[in-house]
Amino acid sequence: MRCDVFCQCARYSAILRTFRPARPARIVPTIKFKSLVTLDSVSKAYGGQVAVAPTSLGIEAQRTSVLIGPSGCGKSTLLRMVLGLVQPDSGRVLIDGEALAAENVLRLRRNIGYVIQDGGLFPHLTAGGNVTLLARYLGREPAWTGARCTELTDLVRLPAAALARYPQDLSGGQRQRVGLMRALMLDPPLLLLDEPLGALDPITRLELQDELKAIFSRLHKTVLLVTHDMNEAAHFGDRIVLLRAGSIVQQGTLQDLLTRPAEPYVREFIRAQRSVLPEVPA
Ligand SMILES: Nc1ncnc2c1ncn2[C@@H]1O[C@H](COP(=O)(O)OP(=O)(O)O)[C@@H](O)[C@H]1O
Ligand SMILES: [Mg+2]
Repeated sequence: MRCDVFCQCARYSAILRTFRPARPARIVPTIKFKSLVTLDSVSKAYGGQVAVAPTSLGIEAQRTSVLIGPSGCGKSTLLRMVLGLVQPDSGRVLIDGEALAAENVLRLRRNIGYVIQDGGLFPHLTAGGNVTLLARYLGREPAWTGARCTELTDLVRLPAAALARYPQDLSGGQRQRVGLMRALMLDPPLLLLDEPLGALDPITRLELQDELKAIFSRLHKTVLLVTHDMNEAAHFGDRIVLLRAGSIVQQGTLQDLLTRPAEPYVREFIRAQRSVLPEVPA
């Protein structure tokens, strides 16, 4: 757990280092994503082992797309390619029609919010320090940062007093709310979430699922969310992309996957996640 937190923080740290502004920062992101993120035949191997086979995928604007599949099938690698943290061995990532490259990755990345399991918060900063870190780094006015913080605590329903606490003194659900606030701070049009609710107890998870879905639709964000839970994929996904061993097996609506499985694996994957419990009356 401890190692996990530090790994995640190190990852966020690496992202943060790349945010240093070349010129004074602006409050409003410069890019509006008209339509999509496009993965154009991207692939990635590590030491000869395929993590992602050549894959093409379009992410619809202002909709929620879900990447789902068993552990190790390449979900996080695809997400990190969109963020420019993983360089594909072949193919291109296009963001709003612009191919991600060394010279534009920092600018494009400022339009992307990234949420990872358990928030990935810096343990040595308060929740408020975590949320405002990037804004302060980019030289935003303190008044703007404070107002934005208040707006976001209302949005994610975090008690304002929690901002003064350190991550270890917050509940898992609160840490995730803080992680979401941090991702939303600069109002990016695109949100990437990697198993954002994976570390939560079932009740908190259910509560946050509902709240997150409402937030996504209220803010009209383009969302790409990773999960290995079919119920969660069904809850969030306007579009569900099922992966196996680095390849897309099928993509479509839940209905498509249920009624027109592309191959027996789709049915097996869904069946493997069936509940063993009888329906519990509300
Ligand atoms: N930095 C890395 N070095 C070596 N192998 C990696 C690295 N990142 C991912 N992999 C491997 O790539 C495959 C896909 O990983 P990942 O995208 O994290 O899967 P998922 O998120 O679906 O669980 C796995 O076999 C994983 O071990
Ligand atoms: Mg993963």
